[in-house]
Amino acid sequence: MIHDPKLELHLHLEGAAPPAFIRQLGDEKGIRLDGVFDSDGAYSYSDFKGFLDVYEAATRVLQSPEDFARLTTSVLEQSREQGVIYTEVFISPDFCGGRDLGAWRDYLAAIQEAAAAVDGIEMRGVVTCIRHFGPDAARETAKCAVETAGDFITGFGMGGNEGLYRAADFAPAFAMAGEAGLGLTSHAGEFGGPASVRETLDHLNVSRVGHGVRAIEDVDLMRRLADEGVHLEVCPGSNVVLGVYANIDAHPIDIIMKTGVPICVSTDDPPFFHTTLPQEYAALNRAFGWDAGQFRKINRMAAEAAFCDAATRADII
Ligand code: HPA
Ligand code: ZN
Repeated sequence: MIHDPKLELHLHLEGAAPPAFIRQLGDEKGIRLDGVFDSDGAYSYSDFKGFLDVYEAATRVLQSPEDFARLTTSVLEQSREQGVIYTEVFISPDFCGGRDLGAWRDYLAAIQEAAAAVDGIEMRGVVTCIRHFGPDAARETAKCAVETAGDFITGFGMGGNEGLYRAADFAPAFAMAGEAGLGLTSHAGEFGGPASVRETLDHLNVSRVGHGVRAIEDVDLMRRLADEGVHLEVCPGSNVVLGVYANIDAHPIDIIMKTGVPICVSTDDPPFFHTTLPQEYAALNRAFGWDAGQFRKINRMAAEAAFCDAATRADII
């Protein structure tokens, strides 16, 4: 089961940086990272807001295209080791030159070159705006996405604090990205309830939702997701560590699966949540008895929802 090829559609590039990687870069650059690590050297936070703060503090050491190239190599090698053959990675121009288009091109070239050099795993980039940075920043991010859309940058997304702004505020950014042919996904239904998912569907024209799990609280919404074939990028370990659910047994993924809404399983920010994709699979096997056949089905759904061309899809299905 653990050894079958896996697909991952929800992984944040900076969020996949191991603490040791961030500490090493901080040491090299003489940047102090007060409050980022606990006494065991793990990322230190106690709630979602604290997580976002520590996440952003850690990114302060990522200051150049070369840093992101190193990070990309490290992340893809880890994923490949875990049996991942195709991964879609959220990349934020906010952390890659502050949304300046010229700088973004340099960062992206370094990331793409690093990705091409890792054999045995295919990567696509989903340019991601950060909700709590606001709609104007999101539009600038969408511009970066549109200008670099192609074989590697195939999607546009949004992460960050779901409690701030309304989905409609981000409609111009998503419309711009959609018109450029990018696949669209947005985090919603993680800390926000069903209304947040509904607004995201109504205004952002997404084919996928990051998390989306709290849609389960609304039967009509679940029917809509199933009817429209909207895919949920489910990250069970992330939801448990951030306190959306008390434990894996209380997670709705098994119920969601049975409603016919398409889903994948992903890790979100693995070192922050002390997880890996094989660990997620093992937990789902333990909690819900999911077997190799079930995971094959999940990975087929991921292939169908992937932001890639038909030839790549045929290769990874
Ligand atoms: N939610 C919102 N924003 C994020 C997350 C998440 O789980 N991970 C990284 N940025
Ligand atoms: Zn996420």
